Amino acid sequence: MTQPLVVKVGGSTLGSHDTALEDIAALHAAGRRIIVVHGGGNTGTEWLKIHDIANEFVDGLRVTNADAIDVVTAVFAGLVNKQLVADLRGLGAPAFGLCGVDGGLLETRQLDQRLGFVGEVSAVDARPLETLLDAGYLPVIGPVGFWQDGDKTRLMNVNADTVAGEVAAAVGAAALVFLTDVAYVRDGSGDNLQELRPAEVEGLIAGGAASGGMIPKLRAGARAAEAGVGCSIIDGREAHALRRVLDGVELGTRVTV
Ligand SMILES: Nc1ncnc2c1ncn2[C@@H]1O[C@H](COP(=O)(O)OP(=O)(O)OP(=O)(O)O)[C@@H](O)[C@H]1O
Ligand SMILES: [Mg+2]
Repeated sequence: MTQPLVVKVGGSTLGSHDTALEDIAALHAAGRRIIVVHGGGNTGTEWLKIHDIANEFVDGLRVTNADAIDVVTAVFAGLVNKQLVADLRGLGAPAFGLCGVDGGLLETRQLDQRLGFVGEVSAVDARPLETLLDAGYLPVIGPVGFWQDGDKTRLMNVNADTVAGEVAAAVGAAALVFLTDVAYVRDGSGDNLQELRPAEVEGLIAGGAASGGMIPKLRAGARAAEAGVGCSIIDGREAHALRRVLDGVELGTRVTV
């Protein structure tokens, strides 16, 4: 059984007419097993504004109070997920949308009370993904999980990069590719990093070189790399970056042990 490829599509590249979805559809048509994980940063922020809910990030993670988790679920597991599924289906790919609540895919616990309903992944049940892949579908995962909080099962916001790293590790992915809106991860001197070791990640964060959304991305890349999954962070705005990196072209930053 060939191992799936996990592709994280960034909110910053979504809807900007990049070629990522074309590449994903073509790779699937060529027989690759693919799992897509998406963020949706900008749409989430817009909808929180519409609902007059504060929008604050701590270390790249969105502070998510009781009002915000409703919007996050509606936007990430709803609008953004369904638009992506529709777009992929429009390209001929048998996309199947789900979030981490569906089939019990992503069990989480509260990461930090101050962040509200933000989950850290405690368990991945890969069976829904394997079932969909075996049936020929292309799973598209929205980053919402669940938390068994005593007798309450709560919806939890999980950073999409974190989801991608955990899913890639759980399914033993052939590779994990993050499509984002920068060409490289930069180090403390502003130089492009072609390679990064998991052990170097916390230093980049502590030293301030990596900030905001790059923090969970690097941690997720390190997590996947330590689980044996080769990981690349590449610029999704560049034409056919996904196809090219899978063809072996050296693009972006590789996180490897
Ligand atoms: N050291 C760094 N090197 C490169 N980019 C960095 C670094 N530190 C912080 N960044 C920022 O990280 C951003 C990418 O993360 P961001 O969370 O914004 O996008 P994404 O994860 O692709 O999309 P989304 O969060 O919507 O899924 C870059 O646009 C850049 O501003
Ligand atoms: Mg991000």
